[in-house]
Amino acid sequence: MDKFLIRGGRALSGEVKISGAKNAALPILAATLLTETPVTLTNVPELRDISTMLKLLSGLGVEHCSQDSTLQIDASQLRSSLAPYELVRTMRASILVLGPLLARTGQAVVSLPGGCAIGARPVDLHLKGLVALGAEVEVQGGYIHARAKKLKGCRLVLDQITVTGTENLMMAAVLAQGRTIIENAAREPEVADLARFLIKLGAHISGVGTETLEIEGVEALDGDPVEYEIMPDRIETGTFLTAAAITGGRIRTTHTCPHTLDAVLEKLKEAGAEISQGSDWIELTQRSRPQAISFHTAPYPGFPTDMQAQLMALNCLAHGVGIITETIFENRFMHALELRRMGADITLEGHTAICKGVDKLQGAPVCASDLRASASLVLAALAAEGETVIDRIYHIDRGYERIEAKLARLGAIIERVHE
Ligand code: EPZ
Repeated sequence: MDKFLIRGGRALSGEVKISGAKNAALPILAATLLTETPVTLTNVPELRDISTMLKLLSGLGVEHCSQDSTLQIDASQLRSSLAPYELVRTMRASILVLGPLLARTGQAVVSLPGGCAIGARPVDLHLKGLVALGAEVEVQGGYIHARAKKLKGCRLVLDQITVTGTENLMMAAVLAQGRTIIENAAREPEVADLARFLIKLGAHISGVGTETLEIEGVEALDGDPVEYEIMPDRIETGTFLTAAAITGGRIRTTHTCPHTLDAVLEKLKEAGAEISQGSDWIELTQRSRPQAISFHTAPYPGFPTDMQAQLMALNCLAHGVGIITETIFENRFMHALELRRMGADITLEGHTAICKGVDKLQGAPVCASDLRASASLVLAALAAEGETVIDRIYHIDRGYERIEAKLARLGAIIERVHE
């Protein structure tokens, strides 16, 4: 397994180009199952999760070819409706093929995504919504078996805000008969990006970006070939800005979208960062030791759970005590145990982490447990004294495109070791 060797203590500075958003590209790739129209996607990030989704789509009969960050997709000849366990177990977002497959072909057999490091992550709300849209859904042998001659639009009220649940149901509703209203829909920018893509394909969706989506079903999405640019990754942006804050440097992130991470920018400013921004760039300068910050994670536009681990790393070296409450996932503090190995002073009490800033972190051998925990360990290593070895960095390759090259260009001493 690959490892990162990082020698900390250098202030990072320079410019970094942000890649396309993983959590927008994944549902948009799944949405190509809805149409026979050839689709060209640009600004697609080169990530493990994207390759996994493409393997899954190929197994269903989708043809695709890629050139750098441009992807040509042709889903005109589907030959299977099975999303196998071998692939789904490596990426929970595979569940996103359920809705479009069912809507396009009338059936879908998708492996139940197991839990993952950060929580049980059930998909009951996805299934409940599909049943309400008229599907027959059975869970047997670890697989979801769904069938529906024709889905029928209805009013759905989601018990809980779910990002991929909203996305799955919106995609299913696009080809349903009549109108579907989704109340308590997730408002994450990636959900809106998917909606804009569907509209470009010919779907009739209103309320984009709000908690109430209205979808007027259409017979088919058979318009002219479509080209669509994936939105920038707001979590990658926040991660690199935090790299500037934790090392006391100055970084400009380009090709990003500042208005999608206001809650994160507010917290970084509270930590003492100077932030300037333009239409597609954000620059952060950290001139003094960060101040500790407290926050709780929440659905968009609240503070994103996908940035919780990164700001916990910042709190480890901040002045004062920061209190972090994780309200979305039940087990998303694994990075705290590894940060402690580097000298952090973190006390965990249920869903709350109390971080008391220390003057210095020491480099140490640590182990990544999930995607954003790995990012947190990289940030801590960049600021720590001495060398840190991070094991199992395949986690980070799932969601950060060429992260070591981008960090090295900012002055980091980081090396990938193949074991
Ligand atoms: C999406 O996961 C993201 N993944 C996650 O990003 C992100 O952390 C999460 O949304 C929250 O913002 C993708 O978009 C591919 P949820 P998702 O359904 O959709 C519970 C990353 O690091 N729930 O919004 O799986 C669930 O257990 C990843 O890029 C149910 O109970 O998250 C959780 O507590 C990690 N039943 C809460 O809702 C359901 O049917 C929110 O989960 C669905 C969800």
